[in-house]
Amino acid sequence: MYRQGDLPHDDLVARVAGKQGLLSVVTDSIDRAVFDAGRDLKVISTIAVGYNNIDVSAARDHGVVVTNTPDVLTEAAADLTWSLILSMTRRIVEGDRLVRRGAWKGFALDFMLGTDLRDKQLGIVGFGRIGKAVAARAAVFGMRVAFASRSAVSSPLGEAMPLDRLLTTSDVVSLHCPLTTETRHLINQTTLARMKRSAYLVNAARGPVVDEAALVWGLENRLIAGAALDVYEREPEIHRGLLALENVVLSPHLGSSTIETRTTMIHLAVDNLIAVLSGKPALTPI
Ligand code: DGY
Repeated sequence: MYRQGDLPHDDLVARVAGKQGLLSVVTDSIDRAVFDAGRDLKVISTIAVGYNNIDVSAARDHGVVVTNTPDVLTEAAADLTWSLILSMTRRIVEGDRLVRRGAWKGFALDFMLGTDLRDKQLGIVGFGRIGKAVAARAAVFGMRVAFASRSAVSSPLGEAMPLDRLLTTSDVVSLHCPLTTETRHLINQTTLARMKRSAYLVNAARGPVVDEAALVWGLENRLIAGAALDVYEREPEIHRGLLALENVVLSPHLGSSTIETRTTMIHLAVDNLIAVLSGKPALTPI
């Protein structure tokens, strides 16, 4: 018996033979070997919106339908993003650590000062459903929104701009793009150096969008003011350099992890699986 998410790839390949449907999670690597072994497969239903772990072109070659769970997690992911922005700029997690180790000496006017969000710019990279939901919450905090996107050219939610301009002008940069060959290490030494020294970086998209070693270098050299990460390059491993830094908030891939949202995601994924296996169209095919 495996804990969900722990199935070794070799076991997955061995056990997929003779199966028609596969319900998967983000940690399962559904590569060509899975499709080659799973000759009877009709559907891969992933309980996630992101599907960078699935070789979609191999699925097409084998005539397998792939489905995901978009929309139902958008609000939860946007809420988590804002909780990261607030914890980071108001030093909540750092303060919690300080209180717990008994280092708080009491109120002082200049103690643990954070940064206001009001009148600052939130730069959103990737303006899909989650990016837009994050943008929609910005007005409450008095932030103006800029976004860089491959597809969206204009939006009432903010100003479209090229990535470089977004990086050089934003006070908080929040990543919401999918992981593709183009976005892998989008945040690297060069792009970090373009950001304001007072800026913060948030990644609740996919870990490899950020070059973690470059981020550690950028934070150690004070190229940016701080970072908040929910996803990592080699989950659940986390770069040791990040663990040592006070100005970094680290959460364990919690973007969609509320009881309500995960329940809805699982129902949608199961409905997708049943639909395809009963010869009907998938509800949310990729
Ligand atoms: C997603 O949906 O892509 C999350 O990262 C995993 O639930």
